[in-house]
Amino acid sequence: MERRNFLKLISLSILFVGLNLFSSVKRSVKFKHGIASGDPTDSSIILWTRVTADNNKKILATYEVSDTKDFKDIIASGQYQTDKNKDFTVKVDVLIPKNFRGKQIFYRFKAEGVTSKIGATTTLPQSPSNFKIAIFSCSNYPAGYFNAYNAASKDNSINMGIHVGDYLYEYKQGEYATENAVQLNRQPIPNKEITTLNDYRLRHAQYKTDVDLQALHSSIPMACAWDDHEITNDAWKDGAENHQANEGSFNIRKRNALKAYFEWMPVREPKNQFKNWKRYKVGNLVDIKLLETRLSSRSEQIKLTKYITKEGIFLKEGFYKTLNNKKRNLLGKEQLNFVKENVGSNQAWNVYAQQVLLASLKLPSIPSDIIDMLPDYQQYYKTVIKEDLPYNLDAWDGYPSEREKFLKIVGSTSKKNLFIAGDTHNCWANNIMLDDKFVGAELATPSVTSPGASENFNGMISSKQLENAMMLKNKNLKWTNLADRGYLTINFKPEIATTEFIAVDTISSRNYKTKILKRVEITPEQELT
Ligand SMILES: [Fe+2]
Repeated sequence: MERRNFLKLISLSILFVGLNLFSSVKRSVKFKHGIASGDPTDSSIILWTRVTADNNKKILATYEVSDTKDFKDIIASGQYQTDKNKDFTVKVDVLIPKNFRGKQIFYRFKAEGVTSKIGATTTLPQSPSNFKIAIFSCSNYPAGYFNAYNAASKDNSINMGIHVGDYLYEYKQGEYATENAVQLNRQPIPNKEITTLNDYRLRHAQYKTDVDLQALHSSIPMACAWDDHEITNDAWKDGAENHQANEGSFNIRKRNALKAYFEWMPVREPKNQFKNWKRYKVGNLVDIKLLETRLSSRSEQIKLTKYITKEGIFLKEGFYKTLNNKKRNLLGKEQLNFVKENVGSNQAWNVYAQQVLLASLKLPSIPSDIIDMLPDYQQYYKTVIKEDLPYNLDAWDGYPSEREKFLKIVGSTSKKNLFIAGDTHNCWANNIMLDDKFVGAELATPSVTSPGASENFNGMISSKQLENAMMLKNKNLKWTNLADRGYLTINFKPEIATTEFIAVDTISSRNYKTKILKRVEITPEQELT
């Protein structure tokens, strides 16, 4: 159609439907992606929802906050206009009056006369006698049900959640951890590896329809950090293992991923999107630093295979020269400065929550015939075992020089440190040492659904055997579980932090039971035994 004819048609239709355009006919609206709150401070909270309307026109949403579930007294309220440029997400940073600090408050949204469900949340308390956090990672929708989220949403003693990353995965059906997806009716949407803005938005939307994820978000405030899969596997500053040249520019892809991330997550957006490190200060009890280890500074991961010749000879010297290069970053100079400036006092527990394992971990000797049966990408285990190398060079083990810098900053200033990690899909409790000096305990949360290490060996080695062998090999590893899915809680009191590793017995059915795999009591300056 020629442009002028098209314009004529448009103006004619406006003439005929003009009355309708300005009438007060209400659109059909739904809040089908739930509601969420996050990034609490002592006086503000992010409130989030998404409006699904029956057309693409901009829409005005209102929000209300009350100290009671019946919304008798409104303690904060306002309006927010959203449109297709924000993918119809609604995100407001709401000031909460100081007299409600740390108390449970309720919130809801309204649009076109439709009201959302009610969510519960809280700002950070001033001087609580205890504060309990729940930690999650690696929630892979096609791999199974988010029963861990459901269990945590029912635990009224949890004050705040922290998701340390892999909140969603980028793969299509048929790729990683999608074996049960058809049976569970949890195939990835869209059915392609997500690369464009629209892809990332659709994937976020799918995750946000999950009832257990919605239950968690509507019950507690969450602090969230991305790991690699929110963008793509093994991401670093300028690339990723799962980004190929035929998928376009990595820079554009990571901007697409982050635009969708900040639209769809209940998180406060920093001035520079990539510099997404944050601090949450819970009075004088807990001082949480949530770090960013992927996109702001990370140097490319070392590929061990590059140091193995065709004849199978390991090029040791070259490998260690690269590994120990002082210029290799994970946090980068600016974030290390942030850590230095916010390292906190000995009064509070200084918690460093981040994505990848801080402890150095080595594989025990696994028989070669078992490794032969593993997929190609795990064949490098043979060299790892023979040469006694750390097995995960995507974790801090691949950045030893910066790890030393980080631990020097943290260890010389405070004695009440606790490190948190995700990413591995398994539970770990480690003593973190710097030159044989204890710096703090590290606790790593199991995945919500992504498969664990024992599944890597397809039953050829039992999880118990593997756990025992890992403990024997790594003297600073005090406990591990390589079999179960779940989450981690830490209940902080001034002189003791009680950690519980909680497992769900299934992710293949919504009918599940939880059990405590391990309880670890942590006291300042005391190594785990
Ligand atoms: Fe993961």
